Amino acid sequence: MSAGSFYITTPIFYVNDVPHIGHAYTEVAADVLARWHRQSGDDAWLLTGTDEHGQKILRTAIANGVTPKEWADRLVETAWKPLLETVNIANDDFIRTTDERHEVNAQKFLQHLHDEGHIYTGEYEGYYCVGCEEYKQTSDLVDGTGAYTGQLVCAIHSKPVELLHEKNYFFKMSAFAERLLALYEENPNFVQPEAARNEVMSFVKRGLSDLSISRSSFDWGIKVPWDESHVVYVWFDALLNYITAAGYGQNDEEFASRWPATHIVGKDILRFHAVIWPAMLMAAGIEVPKQVFGHGWLLVGGEKMSKSKLTGIAPSQITDTFGSDAFRYYFMRAISFGQDGSFSWEDLSARYQSELANGFGNLASRVIAMVLRYCDGTIPALSEGTAGDFTADDLAIRATEQRVTDAATAFIDTLAIHDALASVWQLVDELNGYITLQEPWVLAKNPESRERLGTVLHTAVRGLGTLAVLLSPVIPVATGKLWTALGGDGDLADQRVDRAWEWTGGAKVSALEPLFPRIESIVEPADG
Ligand code: ME8
Ligand code: MG
Repeated sequence: MSAGSFYITTPIFYVNDVPHIGHAYTEVAADVLARWHRQSGDDAWLLTGTDEHGQKILRTAIANGVTPKEWADRLVETAWKPLLETVNIANDDFIRTTDERHEVNAQKFLQHLHDEGHIYTGEYEGYYCVGCEEYKQTSDLVDGTGAYTGQLVCAIHSKPVELLHEKNYFFKMSAFAERLLALYEENPNFVQPEAARNEVMSFVKRGLSDLSISRSSFDWGIKVPWDESHVVYVWFDALLNYITAAGYGQNDEEFASRWPATHIVGKDILRFHAVIWPAMLMAAGIEVPKQVFGHGWLLVGGEKMSKSKLTGIAPSQITDTFGSDAFRYYFMRAISFGQDGSFSWEDLSARYQSELANGFGNLASRVIAMVLRYCDGTIPALSEGTAGDFTADDLAIRATEQRVTDAATAFIDTLAIHDALASVWQLVDELNGYITLQEPWVLAKNPESRERLGTVLHTAVRGLGTLAVLLSPVIPVATGKLWTALGGDGDLADQRVDRAWEWTGGAKVSALEPLFPRIESIVEPADG
């Protein structure tokens, strides 16, 4: 790993259906972290993409009368890539498991494991859930209800599982149980949050079985290099995207400079990432990931929002009304990253109005309007004698700027995005209180308080600059407008978040349209 490399990934999503706000949530979290690190001087790299092989996609394509590749192309172009625009993701790469760079190098990886003796031929007899694309133990199943009464169904999908009896290739995963446990012990940050780590550790302590890594009853997948009658198990294929996208097998220099990665995933797929994936890497002699973070679920009526249960809300339903910034802010602020959370239109509207529109947007508009009105747009500069000495109130604002910059930086280090935002909001609230208390509109009426007016507006403008920089990873559109209006130098995206408080103000402000306009009536879309 090169110094300062910050390689961060999202899961690669199945293209059987279109995205909902759960997928957008993961994208936004990873994007906020990537933007934050980019603005901390790190060589940040955000990877996302799509998972296109396996039976789930194959069956969907057949049901729609097209080939699986045609289906995948359609969904990637009309749904998954547009999602990134909808919620304003600045990804550096987008990998598809049907990319040649992936297929060829995934085969290299597999051949290597085969050559090293980590793979053997065996018989798989057991259950498989196509919805999960996962081999199931009896303990993962429950009795079906309704149309499935009398059958065993997947506890997650509530649909019947299939009984497989196939000759498969197996990965000797059981051989890595001790090394995995040692990894979790020695590096407590490897799996986070704590609840996820405990779950993974107790799972591995119960013992690991070997993993069937090929299928021969259908052919939509990467061919097993030494036996083309088999395709690679879709999860084994998919996990490899994180290294094939970073140059594994074809660009050693690039790979060395990026890997290892921080993986952001939903807790539904934690075990694949925290158990199977590091075991695969250990077998191949590749460094394990830096971290696997399993975030919580967006719930609907207490259940995980899902494509298969038709409880998904399209991200554009929110962004069409509120904009991408509000989407990003809401989910990052309202849900503790790592915990489950429920989305509600009421909560979103309330936070939009009180925090974004009244709290932040209004503060920005008022301060800039006052500089325009009372100072002809020239930001009062202390050195030119147009502003007086600092009072304790002014110094308190400066101190808060520094304190929240440091606090937010520390929270982001532990991936506590919600806490970082809560810290920054202390500055929003304090600045609002400061303006109310200092009453610049009263100071402006009296020529004798001219200097004091300058100091107050100077202080407020600096505070706004600090907010623009600190909030730019979360609400890039609004903060970009604010930065321009403040006369900030250069691109906001080039300003260091970890030094946000150091900004000393530009020369002139320019007019600022409302950052979060009032939304007159919020009509909850009829169908989800
Ligand atoms: O599992 N709340 O893809 P997938 C929060 N292809 N996040 C949610 C969510 C919810 N209700 N629903 C989905 C796969 N997600 C595999 C991954 S990676 C090598 C292969 C998000 O399309 C969350 O990130 O089922 C979850 O882990 C992911 O979507 C699952 O997406
Ligand atoms: Mg899923």
